Amino acid sequence: MISQKMADSINDQIKAEFDSAYIYLSMSAYFENKNFKGMAHWTKKQAKEEMEHAEKLMEHLYERGARVVLEAVAKPAAEFDGPLAVFKEVLKHEQFVTSRFYKMMDLAREEKDYTTQSMLNWFIDEQVEEEASADEIVQKLEFLGNSNSSLYLLDKELAQR
Ligand SMILES: [Fe+2]
Ligand SMILES: [Fe+2]
Repeated sequence: MISQKMADSINDQIKAEFDSAYIYLSMSAYFENKNFKGMAHWTKKQAKEEMEHAEKLMEHLYERGARVVLEAVAKPAAEFDGPLAVFKEVLKHEQFVTSRFYKMMDLAREEKDYTTQSMLNWFIDEQVEEEASADEIVQKLEFLGNSNSSLYLLDKELAQR
């Protein structure tokens, strides 16, 4: 059995994963418009991963016999102040998501819900990678600077994801 409180918190995270997907899709649309095809590809792929995260959380609720309740997705920003600003936002967002999973883990521990703890461990490990890959891009952008040639090179690199 999963408690209602734990199920509510997982449902809340399902919405947060779709919010993340929407934020990344909006970033991808911004990059498409600026003709940064590689960055558009990277953020679009990120959006797909977030939807997979939502599905994984939904599966957990199904398996535990709890109800999945979908909430409205928040409207993401449409305009950004260039690639560095976008990837700084990605990093900040992923750090925020990590803190959400820590809080969920606190609740799962309080409730001695070992099954949910095991599921959350996967997400907490995943967040290490999410933060690291965003941080790596921020650092590259800060190192390379905003010149056309460096943005061109990074765009090519991110197309490889
Ligand atoms: Fe996620
Ligand atoms: Fe993420």
